[in-house]
Amino acid sequence: MADLQTSWLGLTLTSPLVVAASPISRDPAAAMQAEAAGAGAIVMHSLFEEQLIEEQMAAHRYFDQLADTNAEARSFLPDSDLYPLDAEGMVAELQALRQQLTIPVVASLNGNTPGGWTRYAARLADAGASAIELNLYDVASTTATSGADVERRQLEVVAAVVAAVSIPVGVKISPFYASVPAFVHQLEQAGVRGVTVFNRFYDPVVDLDTLAVRRNLESSTSAELPLRLHALAILSATSGALSLACSGGVHTGEDAARAILCGAHVVQVASALLTHGPAHIGTLRGELQHWLDDKGYTSSAAARGVLGLAKAEDPSVWTRLNYIRSLDTWREQPTWRNHT
Ligand SMILES: Cc1cc2nc3c(=O)[nH]c(=O)nc-3n(C[C@H](O)[C@H](O)[C@H](O)COP(=O)(O)O)c2cc1C
Repeated sequence: MADLQTSWLGLTLTSPLVVAASPISRDPAAAMQAEAAGAGAIVMHSLFEEQLIEEQMAAHRYFDQLADTNAEARSFLPDSDLYPLDAEGMVAELQALRQQLTIPVVASLNGNTPGGWTRYAARLADAGASAIELNLYDVASTTATSGADVERRQLEVVAAVVAAVSIPVGVKISPFYASVPAFVHQLEQAGVRGVTVFNRFYDPVVDLDTLAVRRNLESSTSAELPLRLHALAILSATSGALSLACSGGVHTGEDAARAILCGAHVVQVASALLTHGPAHIGTLRGELQHWLDDKGYTSSAAARGVLGLAKAEDPSVWTRLNYIRSLDTWREQPTWRNHT
């Protein structure tokens, strides 16, 4: 049987299948089911910068309540009831998970402006987190800040979190950088131990009847995986000693195998577990094991990166040349001609 042991963020895991940041970590019984089914680690749902700033503001408000000088600044902050949990609530959840689980528990922070909130990374480390995953989720909506400004600001946040803790820090990024490898290289120089590709943007639904924009939280499908595979294949050749996590579109053991072949050290799963239950990680693990054994791999490590940019028989499958070739294949499928 192929050995599934892997290393992620400097941690040794018994399995590359990891529970992604999601509500599963809020329920210790669900987390225990995932562990029993063979999860290698669990990432907690995130503590948000806005949540932490709101707490700091609440403390200020307490002291400033007689001389209310910060009304304007406060008006930019989201309502505190948007966030169901404060930092100490998160610490309590982390401690509860630590007591129940033997697999590493990774705490998650989500924010993108430097500030005092980054110190909470140390609180989570003290409470027993094995590592921190920092989710850099950004939405550009003004002309005032350039892409370079955004990256600079994000690197400052990363440096602050890395400086605050001695446990490993991984960063979950979006696909929206002009050069993902260059930004990831800068993350590595800032002391990050791994990257997770990619976070997932939740698509707004424009309702034509009510002329309103509704929030939409749809489960992913395997169709989201190829974007990740492409990034993994390139990063496996460019990202030095960083560990790589795939997040987004893993729904089967075969999807996990694809991510590993392209260079992933671990594969994070959320939607599939929220749909089928946390024990479903055992099904994915079984399918991955079966595929590795069938292909004669003695370990998942042996399969890792086999299709990456550095090792692929034809590296041009990952480059611009392949784009040109792909467009050309439409000539072989001229279905549209049937309609002319
Ligand atoms: C209900 C739900 C809650 C999530 N909460 C978080 C979160 O708190 N922090 C985070 O970084 N990602 C969060 N995610 C994103 C997942 O960790 C994951 O990156 C994304 O869902 C893609 O993986 P999937 O295709 O397996 O769902 C959440 C996803 C879902 C569906």
